Amino acid sequence: MLFDILTLFPNIFDGYLSESLVKNAIDRELIRVRRYNIRDWSTDKHHKVDDSPYGGGSGMVLKVDCVVPCVEEVRANEENRGRLLMMTPQGKRIDQKFVEELSQEQRILLLCGRYEGFDERVSQILQPEEISIGDYVLNGGEAAAMIIIDAVIRLVPGVLGDEFSSLCDSFSTGNRLLEGPQYTRPRVYRGLEVPEILVGGNHEQIQQWRAEEAVKRTEQRRPDLFQY
Ligand SMILES: C[S@@+](CC[C@H](N)C(=O)[O-])C[C@H]1O[C@@H](n2cnc3c(N)ncnc32)[C@H](O)[C@@H]1O
Repeated sequence: MLFDILTLFPNIFDGYLSESLVKNAIDRELIRVRRYNIRDWSTDKHHKVDDSPYGGGSGMVLKVDCVVPCVEEVRANEENRGRLLMMTPQGKRIDQKFVEELSQEQRILLLCGRYEGFDERVSQILQPEEISIGDYVLNGGEAAAMIIIDAVIRLVPGVLGDEFSSLCDSFSTGNRLLEGPQYTRPRVYRGLEVPEILVGGNHEQIQQWRAEEAVKRTEQRRPDLFQY
């Protein structure tokens, strides 16, 4: 799976891409991540990528004549044009179902905004899927892009050590519930004991207990999930 990130700040991803599961997935060639600096498509002699909004108002707007050529050129550099996602708080809010859908793609392009966001004509011309990670406003789309990559790669075969583990995650297909409580050693800590059933070794009973706990937890914390 190929991720193309289009951003004004490609170095923001340095730490994220060089640690843990994502680094491992890149090293094992399960995923590829390429970064493009939108500024490289600026035709302005000062490499300007933003300008003040028509009609006045605060902040700066990302220029259409810089963003559109950047996306078009990057998109055309592979036969598979991929799925173009534009990061914006005004977009469709992502959930696990959407993440599962994305995990089936071969190529995803993540367009990250900054400042006051994109000139409206970027959307009109490129027709991206406008995606939000939640009802709050970030300084830029980079954190949102990392969240999407992080959620999607969990579902790419081979990325997790244990394929089964993502199937049991909260919100997953066939589950759509919260995962129940988990424990590890020590068996007793500050008087709190691990439930007896988990140390008994009866796999069937453990599965049954986990299923019941998942339902209980979902009822308590997220009853809305039963409407799925
Ligand atoms: C400060 S925000 C612009 C907000 C814009 N003025 C508005 O009110 O809708 C700058 C950039 O951060 C990213 N961003 C901010 N919040 C986001 C969210 N909740 N989900 C996805 N991207 C977000 C987008 O790429 C956006 O272009």
